[in-house]
Amino acid sequence: MKKVLLVNSSSRYKDSITRQVADLLVNYLAGNKTQIINRDLAQGIPFVDENWVVANFTTPEERTDEHKASLNFSDNLVQELQQAEQIVIASPIYNFNLPAVLKAWIDLIARARLTFQYTAQGAEGLLKNKKVYIVMASGGVPIGSEMDFVSPYLKHVLSFIGINDVSIIDANKIFHENDPKKAVE
Ligand SMILES: Cc1cc2nc3c(=O)[nH]c(=O)nc-3n(C[C@H](O)[C@H](O)[C@H](O)COP(=O)(O)O)c2cc1C
Repeated sequence: MKKVLLVNSSSRYKDSITRQVADLLVNYLAGNKTQIINRDLAQGIPFVDENWVVANFTTPEERTDEHKASLNFSDNLVQELQQAEQIVIASPIYNFNLPAVLKAWIDLIARARLTFQYTAQGAEGLLKNKKVYIVMASGGVPIGSEMDFVSPYLKHVLSFIGINDVSIIDANKIFHENDPKKAVE
C-alpha cells in the first residue's frame, strides 16, 4: 500500500496555514489505497540526550536493552520515513529558521547506518526514490529570499540522507487560492 508521511510542526492548530495547506496537499496526493502516516511534532518530541548519543554510536549488535530503549522513538521516526514514498513536511518560519520541534525531528532521523553512511567517497544518503514537499508559511519573510534559512537548510539535510527530489511550496499563496494542484504543478 502506498504511504504518505505528513510531518507537522506548527505550534498552532486553529488558523495554522501550514497545517491547512499540508492537509490539502496530502489529500490531493493520496488515492483510495493510500495510508497517511501522521507525525505531529507539536504533540511532543524528545531532544537527543547523552543516552541517545551513546546508544547511537554503539554498533547494533552490541546495544543493550537500555540502548535500544533510548533509540526507540528515533527508530520509529526513521521507519515512518523509510516506509513513505511521498513526504509532506509542514514548516512555518520561526525566528528566521525552522520550528525547534522540526530540528529535533531532523536530529532523530539523521541516523548513521539507517539514513546515511560514510564511504571512502564520502557521505552517502540511504533513502532512495522519495519525493518531499516542504509546505512553508511565514508572517513576512518571503519564501526563497535570503532571509529564509529554512528552505536551503531543509534541502541540504534531506539531500544528505538521500532525498533530492524536493519541492518548496509557499503555503501563504496556496492558502489564499485554496488549490492544492498549484502545489504540485
Ligand atoms: C514564535 C514565532 C516566530 C515567528 N518568526 C517569524 C519570522 O522570523 N519571520 C516571519 O516571517 N514570520 C515569523 N512568524 C510568523 C509565522 O511564520 C506565520 O504566522 C506562519 O503562518 C505560522 O505558521 P502556521 O500558520 O502554520 O502556524 C513567527 C511566528 C511565531 C509563532
